[in-house]
Amino acid sequence: MIVPAAGRGERLGPGAPKALRVLGGVPMLVHAVRALASARSIDLVVVAAPEDGVAEVVALLGEHGLLDADGARAGAMVVAGGDTRQDSVARALHALPPDIDVVLVHDAARPLVPTSLVDSVAFAVRGGAEAVVPGLPVADTVKAVDPLETVTATLDRSSLRAIQTPQGFRRTTLTAAHAAADPDAPATDDAGLVELVGGTVLVVPGDEEAFKVTRPLDLVLAEAVLARRRAAGVVA
Ligand code: CTP
Ligand code: MG
Repeated sequence: MIVPAAGRGERLGPGAPKALRVLGGVPMLVHAVRALASARSIDLVVVAAPEDGVAEVVALLGEHGLLDADGARAGAMVVAGGDTRQDSVARALHALPPDIDVVLVHDAARPLVPTSLVDSVAFAVRGGAEAVVPGLPVADTVKAVDPLETVTATLDRSSLRAIQTPQGFRRTTLTAAHAAADPDAPATDDAGLVELVGGTVLVVPGDEEAFKVTRPLDLVLAEAVLARRRAAGVVA
């Protein structure tokens, strides 16, 4: 499992890098790594941290009991991320031990991902798909516009999906897609790179709780979801 966590979180406003912003008293990255590490299908979590924040992330995961003392298998390890999400994932991919043949990539910015979604994506890859993404129907009507904001088309909503992470891949598929990727036109997700090299990407049902924290209102929603889980006794 690769966790890109090196973004600055500009759309969230001023403050710490997004993955280190606090939710229910705990940094988002800790929520995400906890959820991933507890999935049955996951052996190892490789976090791509902000380049100048590797030591801080190592200390943080250590404090929460999520890092192996020797940084080896069956736990988590931390590498330095890059300037784009694509670069951060590529760096983590290089650090993966050779014996791993199914790789999931999950945004630290989706801290409340249910473990069941992680397992269902991993299951679909183990079942034979080369690339798997969770997707949900789109609620809004989506229109294409030109540079002057004049509408050029209304897309058929029934054929659209809003895509989440974790995205799952055969390791060979993901490695080949990243090797062919253009660093000057980075993709916003890994499945996009697989599509560019002609790979087949399968959509499985997503989960509303795997939403991405992007703007300030998303933090309000995340706090509410956590409060609901705590009230239901789902988390401590
Ligand atoms: N990410 C990364 N390395 C980068 C940029 C992004 O690892 N150079 C990660 C983010 O940490 C996040 C995920 O990719 O977990 C999805 O990116 P996004 O939601 O865009 O997060 P940010 O880039 O941090 O936010 P913003 O675009 O608002 O600055
Ligand atoms: Mg970004």
